[in-house]
Amino acid sequence: MTKCVIVTGGAGYIGSHACKALRAAGYEPVTFDNLSTGWEDAVKFGPFEKGDLLDRARLDEVFAKYNPVAVMHFAAFSQVGESMKDPAKYWRNNVIGSLTLIEAAVAAGCMNFVFSSTCATYGDQDNVVLDEESVQLPINSYGASKRAIEDILENFEQAFGLNSVIFRYFNVAGGDPEAEVGEFHQPETHLIPLMLDAIAGKRDALTIFGTDYVTPDGTCIRDYVHVCDLVDAHVLGLKWLEDGKGSRVFNLGTGKGFSVREVIDHSRAVTNMEVPYVEGDRRPGDCTKLVSGSERAIKELGWSPDRSNLTEMIGDAWKWHQTGHYEK
Ligand SMILES: NC(=O)c1ccc[n+]([C@@H]2O[C@H](COP(=O)([O-])OP(=O)(O)OC[C@H]3O[C@@H](n4cnc5c(N)ncnc54)[C@H](O)[C@@H]3O)[C@@H](O)[C@H]2O)c1
Repeated sequence: MTKCVIVTGGAGYIGSHACKALRAAGYEPVTFDNLSTGWEDAVKFGPFEKGDLLDRARLDEVFAKYNPVAVMHFAAFSQVGESMKDPAKYWRNNVIGSLTLIEAAVAAGCMNFVFSSTCATYGDQDNVVLDEESVQLPINSYGASKRAIEDILENFEQAFGLNSVIFRYFNVAGGDPEAEVGEFHQPETHLIPLMLDAIAGKRDALTIFGTDYVTPDGTCIRDYVHVCDLVDAHVLGLKWLEDGKGSRVFNLGTGKGFSVREVIDHSRAVTNMEVPYVEGDRRPGDCTKLVSGSERAIKELGWSPDRSNLTEMIGDAWKWHQTGHYEK
């Protein structure tokens, strides 16, 4: 019988790519999503169960229906700026929602849990390559909410034996090379889709938020990972748990940082079009530089982030952009 995995947030950007990867690996991905920021037409690779993380009865129903071998938990709010203005929204949805889900999983005897955490849990640690042992000092409510969920998972392991793989993502980019699914947030806050929109004339010029950071060209530096590489790591993480290897934290990034201006230069080269941009003020909550130490995932999971180069990430995102799926 095909093994089911509950994928919360499966109608969103990363969750929909994870469903495709799970399906290809022989699992049945069951999307659990309230469509608050996701899209029903992104649920293409398995059943859809509409529901909210905060609705325990609905979660119990779905666990009982599918008897999943694991949960992959992507559902969350994830805009740094919004989290600074409305922290309660983040603590309620991300932390209380995740707690409700974790309790439902344990009650259903589903003891394998894969969780989307973030490099935002590390905070602003200038000029350090961040590895899994780095201290976590989030500087925004979003990062704080994710760190709290990591703590909950650790406590549930101690109390009930829940096994978790926690992935701390750096900046996720790109899309399915077959363009069946892709990135579409509304509002969009991520650099590459914003830039492609500006290139295609679908929005005004791109704003560079802050040009006075202490970096070689004054703009923020981020470590970009291809969404397909990222979801491959999730399938490896799932197998890790199924093999009984126990709880573990892994960073997912490449160890290479690119400034906003460097990403703009690459986009110009990939699309062969000019990137209209203006220079603006810093955004509250943004860190100067976030670069991953990702040796652990490569060594222990056998992960190979082969597609995580800017040319492929921007190229795949551009392919998706041109399908017109973007016009919602
Ligand atoms: N995109 C990135 O670069 C990035 C970086 C680090 C971490 N992450 C994390 O990865 C995960 C997925 O990010 P994404 O970019 O795909 O976001 P997304 O907004 O595209 O997807 C999130 C999905 O979760 C659903 N959702 C939100 N709250 C819910 C709730 N209470 N109940 C049910 N469904 C709910 C939304 O409808 C949406 O489909 C998030 O947890 C995010 O914090 C993303």
